[in-house]
Amino acid sequence: MSKNIDWSSLGFGYIETEQRFVSNYKDGSWDEGVLTGDSQVVISECAGVLQYAQTCFEGLKAYTTEDGKVVCFRPDLNAQRMSDSCKRLEMPVFPEDKFVEAVAKVVEANIDYVPPYGSGATLYIRPYMFGSNPVIGVKPATEYQFRIFVTPVGPYFKGGVKPIVIRVSDFDRAAPNGTGHIKAGLNYAMSLHAIQDAHEQGYAENLYLDPATRTKVEETGGANFIFITKDGKLVTPKSNSILPSITRRSLMYVAEKYLGMEVEHREVYLDELKDFAECGLCGTAAVISPVGKIVDHGKEICFPSGMDDMGPVTKKLYDTLTGIQMGRIEAPEGWIKVIKE
Ligand code: PLP
Ligand code: COI
Repeated sequence: MSKNIDWSSLGFGYIETEQRFVSNYKDGSWDEGVLTGDSQVVISECAGVLQYAQTCFEGLKAYTTEDGKVVCFRPDLNAQRMSDSCKRLEMPVFPEDKFVEAVAKVVEANIDYVPPYGSGATLYIRPYMFGSNPVIGVKPATEYQFRIFVTPVGPYFKGGVKPIVIRVSDFDRAAPNGTGHIKAGLNYAMSLHAIQDAHEQGYAENLYLDPATRTKVEETGGANFIFITKDGKLVTPKSNSILPSITRRSLMYVAEKYLGMEVEHREVYLDELKDFAECGLCGTAAVISPVGKIVDHGKEICFPSGMDDMGPVTKKLYDTLTGIQMGRIEAPEGWIKVIKE
């Protein structure tokens, strides 16, 4: 029985659900892992994660489809990206096939928390890993915990799919050591001041520039950018210091193969933003959130799509992507993992 939750009023927050997956790494190997009802984590005061921030995470969603199945969107790509994060942080990789199996197990164990089709909510899945044993010299931990919890969520930005206003940030998104392409907790910790500051000034997010030249568009705190040109092309920034968004990679494919659009994955300069017709933020949490305006130190860049609605091309991309995720449109081979028939 579906939980008695007012799905349509959910924001992007944490609700404790019943079961989570836990696996421990010790003496060079992972144990089998178990589902547990215990939501608390107890670790040494000297744990590697607490001293040197040795932790990374992933984010994906489960959806109820139009015909009542429960599915996940491309969990194999989250497993791959988590492997990349682990390698860069000197953490042991959790085997990618086991990652996907564990995602399915946790969703199944919390099936009553998967929001119904059409409710506007989805089940957010958060895999993460941290160094758990005492570490005092600057070196990697030798013991780790990998966990997955799930929580039902609504839209990431208040107002759902209403266009937002963001600003060009003077801060950099990621920790300044070339780790921007991985989902290291530290990158997000480094962005917390920037996001609070943006909110205090009335902006929904920060547009981060490349730290070296401060002329190129990178991404925001939790999403990649997509832009639509006046002649209907999809343009999306290429940089090896932004997170390789699974949503963005999927949209590039959808634009080309489903909508017959031209796609440019290239460096995007701050200077050229004024020439685009539409702008959006894409990610698991953000889905596609339209941007109506970008403020660059008092100078306003207003997209012709305006502040009332999503632009027409962004809307087509949104409808196609969410159509694939919710089973209204046939997905490319291997994109959908069915968890419950
Ligand atoms: N960029 C950042 C910094 C993110 O945190 C996220 C969210 O995961 C994304 C981009 C979007 O990535 P994905 O589409 O894989 O969720
Ligand atoms: C996600 O979209 O999964 C993220 O990790 C981004 C964060 C804003 C929640």
